[in-house]
Parts: sequence; C-alpha cells; structure tokens
Amino acid sequence: MSGEGKMRIAVLASGSGTNLEAIARAVESGEVPVEIALVISDNPDAYALVRAKNHKIPARCFLLSDFESREAFDRAIADALTDAGVELVVLAGYMKLVGGEILSRFKNRIMNIHPALLPSFPGTHGVRDALEYGVKVSGVTVHFVDEGLDTGPIILQEAVQVYDDDDEETLHQRIHEVEYRLYPLAIKLFALGRLKIEGRKVRIFQEADEKR
Ligand code: GRF
Repeated sequence: MSGEGKMRIAVLASGSGTNLEAIARAVESGEVPVEIALVISDNPDAYALVRAKNHKIPARCFLLSDFESREAFDRAIADALTDAGVELVVLAGYMKLVGGEILSRFKNRIMNIHPALLPSFPGTHGVRDALEYGVKVSGVTVHFVDEGLDTGPIILQEAVQVYDDDDEETLHQRIHEVEYRLYPLAIKLFALGRLKIEGRKVRIFQEADEKR
C-alpha cells in the first residue's frame, strides 16, 4: 500500500479492534483514500495491536503508568500523532477520554464511533444501557469529538432494530456490522473534504456541491 499523497490518519484503540480491521480493509481495497500512518493503544494486550501488525501499520503503545501525569501521557500521544504527520485521529474503542493537548492540537480532526443513537446512552455501556432501558431501536453514531463525553457534532447515524430476545452480545454484533460500513464512510467523507462543521451540525457535501 503506497499511500503517497494521501491524508494520513491514526487509529486509537484499546481493545479488539474490529473497527480498525474494517477501516484497514477499506483502505487497502482503495475505497477510502487515506493512509493509516499509526495505530496507538493504551493497552499492551489490545488485539488491535496484532491487527495493526498484520496489516503492516506502525503501532505504538502508551501506558499511562509510565507517565508522571495524565497531561504528560496525552502530550506524548499528541507528539506521536504530530510526528507521524497525522491529519485525522480516529477513535475506535479507545477507552480513555481524549485529553487537552490532543484535543487542542487536533480540533475538529478527531472522530469517534458510539454503539447507540446519541445523545441517548452515551458512555462506556451504550449497548447495555439501551437494552436495559427497553428501546425498540438503537444504532450507531459517528461524531466529531469535543471536550464532553460523546457530545460532539454528529457526522453519520444509522438505526439498528432491537429484538425481544436480544442480549448485549447479539445486539452489539448487529451494531458492529453497521459500524464497519459507517466508519470507513465517515473517514472517506472527511478525507475528500466533504464534511463541514456548522455549530452543532455537520453538513455533508455531495460530490457535485459547491462549498460556500
Ligand atoms: C465499538 O462498538 C464502538 O462503537 C465502541 O467500542 C467498540 C469497539 O469495538 N466505541 P472494536 O474494538 O472496534 O471491536
């Protein structure tokens, strides 16, 4: 994968990294015109690191316990992103709130994916919380990251039906299938310059639209 001249992105993941896998495949197939320049994890056991290696993507792990403060940890990650020439930071199951230095250096250039229809059920247990509440429809949200918890401007959303016999695993599985389509699409739209944040709203330009 040459990636020459393409927008460089980083994926931050703490766990299994199935979204990373979907993004890497979409990039390799040429569907998403970016280069994954770096994968970062805060968890040395994250399977996402193995996936990065399998796809020959440079990967780094940052342990919070190796740093004297959370600020220093976030600064080190921000420096790694800058050094890698990253223009878009993609959070894919990254289990830490993105801190000050990363946020300020990559303002409006950080995306997250959430397994519920925000603003409902933010936080770590979006799938479980939606099930326990008894909603009939949940879904997937891709959004820009701001200083809040899952509060930034929404880029894409898609509904997923909840069935009576669903448990967390079965619902999350169907949510994942939607995630694997929506996240690469959001990254592609960003890379093509087709997303514009207007206050709380994200405008998506059609290919033929003039940007005003
Ligand atoms: C996804 O469901 C995503 O919505 C949430 O964390 C999960 C990560 O899964 N933020 P994976 O590590 O990509 O498999």
